Amino acid sequence: MTIAEILTKRSSIRAFTNKEIPAKKLEAMLTLAQKAVSNCNVQPWQTLIVSGNTREKLKSAFMKTLMSGQQPNPDFDWTPKYQNEHRERQFGSANALYGALGIERTDKQARMQSMARNWAFFDAPHVAFFCMQKYLGIMGAVDLGVYAQSLSMIMREAGIDNCMQGALGQFPDPVREILELPDELGILFGMSFGYADPAAAVNQARTTRVDLTEAVSFFD
Ligand SMILES: Cc1cc2nc3c(=O)[nH]c(=O)nc-3n(C[C@H](O)[C@H](O)[C@H](O)COP(=O)(O)O)c2cc1C
Repeated sequence: MTIAEILTKRSSIRAFTNKEIPAKKLEAMLTLAQKAVSNCNVQPWQTLIVSGNTREKLKSAFMKTLMSGQQPNPDFDWTPKYQNEHRERQFGSANALYGALGIERTDKQARMQSMARNWAFFDAPHVAFFCMQKYLGIMGAVDLGVYAQSLSMIMREAGIDNCMQGALGQFPDPVREILELPDELGILFGMSFGYADPAAAVNQARTTRVDLTEAVSFFD
């Protein structure tokens, strides 16, 4: 698979089979992702891969947290209030998702239930939490984005799908407690991954991208 094929054919996947990825394959992909570039080569990512019983425990803890009505308290303040064309694109991505699921714009309960699937990892057998030391802020966030995209593409090449999830950084407490994270380590975002369920309606969601003229300027 070429990079062009990966980028053209990929989409975020939000329904998975329960087939697990063999540990050796997982390790090989993560080893390759270590090649990602970073500012001054500081490689600030600390990646937590959660599977098996610990995944079950964490999912239950997230569900309890959601049911309690707790408000998000992310380690990093990046919950965006998008404006103008960004807001329009945000609506576009929500419409693609809810359209694929047949959820009406006015059906708030169905939307919330669909949102809650984030913390059940969309039934994926594995989930990654992308963490870094809290003091790094935006310096580290850039590097973690580059790293996560590298890992995502490596996975796609190996036939493994994923969905990056800002949602997984919204309630850090259960993760901190169950994985015994030190205070100085913050969770930026996460990614559920595994083998896509091809029959799931949610996986038919497709988003668009703006034309080059809206994104790139050339100066001669
Ligand atoms: C940093 C980041 C955070 C994201 N957070 C979520 C999330 O919490 N839940 C979700 O369902 N999708 C999430 N996504 C997926 C985006 O919605 C998706 O990439 C975008 O709409 C483009 O669609 P595509 O990936 O299918 O091309 C996230 C993507 C990125 C890069």
